[in-house]
Amino acid sequence: MKTFEIHGSTGDSFIHVGETLRNLRKYIPSKNVVLITDKNVKQFYENDFPPHPAITIDTGEKIKNLDTVRDIYEKLVTVGADRSTFIVGIGGGIVCDIAGFVASTYLRGVRFGFVSSTLLSQVDASVGGKNGVNFKDYKNMIGVFNQPEFVICDLNLLNTLPEKEVLCGLAEIVKHAVIGDINLFAYLERHYQEALALDNDVIGKLVYDSIIIKSAIVNQDELEKGERRKLNFGHTFGHAFEKTTGVPHGEAVSAGMVVASEISVKRGDLPSKDAQRIETLLQKIGLPVRIQAEGKSILDALKKDKKRKGDRIYFVMLNEIGNAFVDQIPIKELEAVILHFC
Ligand code: GLY
Repeated sequence: MKTFEIHGSTGDSFIHVGETLRNLRKYIPSKNVVLITDKNVKQFYENDFPPHPAITIDTGEKIKNLDTVRDIYEKLVTVGADRSTFIVGIGGGIVCDIAGFVASTYLRGVRFGFVSSTLLSQVDASVGGKNGVNFKDYKNMIGVFNQPEFVICDLNLLNTLPEKEVLCGLAEIVKHAVIGDINLFAYLERHYQEALALDNDVIGKLVYDSIIIKSAIVNQDELEKGERRKLNFGHTFGHAFEKTTGVPHGEAVSAGMVVASEISVKRGDLPSKDAQRIETLLQKIGLPVRIQAEGKSILDALKKDKKRKGDRIYFVMLNEIGNAFVDQIPIKELEAVILHFC
């Protein structure tokens, strides 16, 4: 097991990679704990849960909203949760985002931690203290920065993931390599087949290295005033694709990274051979590099992006693989790109 630390403004967070769900009881109080999970995770792993009340939610992005949060508050009241209650989210990104938000707001905040069960949440969603839900048309519009006391990344839980979920996690791993580590990118080029087959050593290294990159960025800029924006590489178009077509997050981010690379090339920042290398790796992994979407809807979605500032948007681009930077791009400039890609 390896442990990484994030030093947040709300407290320290310990990310334990290679720890197991069965050891969860070592990290939580012996009583007054409430588990929040989803029905898939419950179906596979309920026998490994410690004996505490569990609130089970549905799956899918559509339930990541205030209605679900309200249902959970109701259940917490019913089980008598109070200020000393410890909440544990056991699941993927959606469970952890919701559980973290509920824990941060119930009775003005109670202690919480996560057992992260998907590749996407282990390398990204559960690490870094972003908790929240979607609101109306806006993704992650309501939320807080608040660090979980711990995140257990149990690599064994990945064995029951559908292939599409593995691909989504790999998209975020490619993102971390592209923005911060050329050696990790080259490793992915050599070992993507073992990664797809969930080879233990390869997946372990990919999860460790991703968390090294992410935790270093969050330690510099927890509240996303500068450096942390780099973690949004591929996400401006990615969120727009996700919203307008309903494709899974990782697939949308994959196509979004290709668009962001192309924009970097067009602006003269990135050699085209690097953009080609990124596209080729994503294709080999089996991720989409183009997504059919209606141009006007994409433009509307970009205008509703949280990263927009007036008629410009914070956009992450590349100088080379492993080296990202952020600039404010006029939305008008992106319109031309949309015509080309959609
Ligand atoms: N997923 C991007 C971030 O945590 O900042």
